[in-house]
Amino acid sequence: MTSTSEQPIMVARTSDDEANPYLLGVYAPVDTEIDAEDLQVIGKIPADLNGVYLRNGPNPRFQPEGRYHWFDGDGMVHAVHLENGKARYRNRWVRTKAFEAESEAGKGLWKGVMESPKDNPFGNHHGLGLKDNANTDLVFHRGKVLATWYMCGSPYSIDPLSLETLGAEDFLGTLVGDMMAHPKVDERTGEMFWFDYGPRPPYLRYGVVSADGKVASTTDIELPGPRLPHDMAITENFAILMDLPLVQDLEAARAGRHKLKFDRSMPSRFGVLPRYGTGDQIRWFEASPCYIYHVVNAWEQGEEIVMDVCRVSRPQPRADAHTPLAKMLSYLRLDASLHRYRFNLRTGLCAESQLDDDNTEFPTVDARAIGRRSRYAYNVHISPESTLLFDGLVRYDTVAGSKTEHFFGPGRWGSEAPFAPRDGAAEGDDADGYLVTFVQDEREGCSELDIFDAADLAAGPVARVLLPQRVPLGFHATWVRADQLDNLKR
Ligand SMILES: [Fe+2]
Repeated sequence: MTSTSEQPIMVARTSDDEANPYLLGVYAPVDTEIDAEDLQVIGKIPADLNGVYLRNGPNPRFQPEGRYHWFDGDGMVHAVHLENGKARYRNRWVRTKAFEAESEAGKGLWKGVMESPKDNPFGNHHGLGLKDNANTDLVFHRGKVLATWYMCGSPYSIDPLSLETLGAEDFLGTLVGDMMAHPKVDERTGEMFWFDYGPRPPYLRYGVVSADGKVASTTDIELPGPRLPHDMAITENFAILMDLPLVQDLEAARAGRHKLKFDRSMPSRFGVLPRYGTGDQIRWFEASPCYIYHVVNAWEQGEEIVMDVCRVSRPQPRADAHTPLAKMLSYLRLDASLHRYRFNLRTGLCAESQLDDDNTEFPTVDARAIGRRSRYAYNVHISPESTLLFDGLVRYDTVAGSKTEHFFGPGRWGSEAPFAPRDGAAEGDDADGYLVTFVQDEREGCSELDIFDAADLAAGPVARVLLPQRVPLGFHATWVRADQLDNLKR
């Protein structure tokens, strides 16, 4: 095992001197980058599971300026590479421009979302002064993993095995502006679909990276005002964008404050446009007000587009949160449920229905099925605690209308659990594989990688790979298959 970082992390205090929960316990950052081979395993790593699990998340390198919020931390990728029944762990910070600037200065230079960003050194292309920390998602495209940021920033290319940051990805010089956290890749065509949003017109821009790695199309999408879209969907022929009624509180904005308001008088709107369409071709479908972080999947079925999502019906922090820290925590509270929309392309009408009432989020499907009919959704179950903790996994069978679950146990918290197809599993069989996730044990202060048979979650993990250091809770994860890694052999 080697350690390559020497900068210690300090525990920050908030202005009212309460210990900051996002620098403690299960959230506490790690201060070392390590490599470890031949990890100890309880159970047996399946011989037909080869590839790499990568998870992104916030991990501040330096004492942050002002009050630290979890969203502010520098992106760090933790990865476990499974090969021939053996496991190897590695973690690396994403070397963003801001990370490099702070490393050079030897201290934190940015204030985060709980403070005013006006004196921060630089921000994203929209002039938002927050640090583009690439801490949110990881998407595999054209041999590289892109680390992305939820407020829209530069996607950073990362080597999926060495975790070396290869640089800000500009798609051979064709990306103008920023990209959101959750671009969608169509593995059959090699294209990637994305959007970019900001506080000034055009509030939303949609684009396509073609299989040759260049931005082949961008178009402005007309919205009534600034929005905070987090995710999108694709089908074989269409892209689906969102205009949801979580909007800026204009009164607060006039007083110079940033505050979000859920406006129940406005509908949710879903815009369907051809993959290479222009903004004037978009067709809007209206539905009941809500907020949506994550799409499960979408596909075409007859004259309809079906889109499954995790729908948030009350997207505002709890009213009973009064202290700064309680507010900070409750902002992270997430209450979502599996929900289906049907957009009828002939009639222009939208039908919607709740598919389940359990609080589940961070959905994944077989990545080969994105944009095409998938049967299973693999979500994390959200714990009833006051902040965002994943206490289990849920597999939804959206054809049979049933679900199976696994709970990690007291004080054990998971990460996003992508579906990892069994080596050679047929495309279209989205149960033939595994779910892979980090689990952190709060009481023991340690972490492991748990592997589940996707078709038998209730049986518990088939293998538990013990990790050489605690992996703090984080955001999104991805699975890169061995056949995708093979194409990289250089
Ligand atoms: Fe997300």
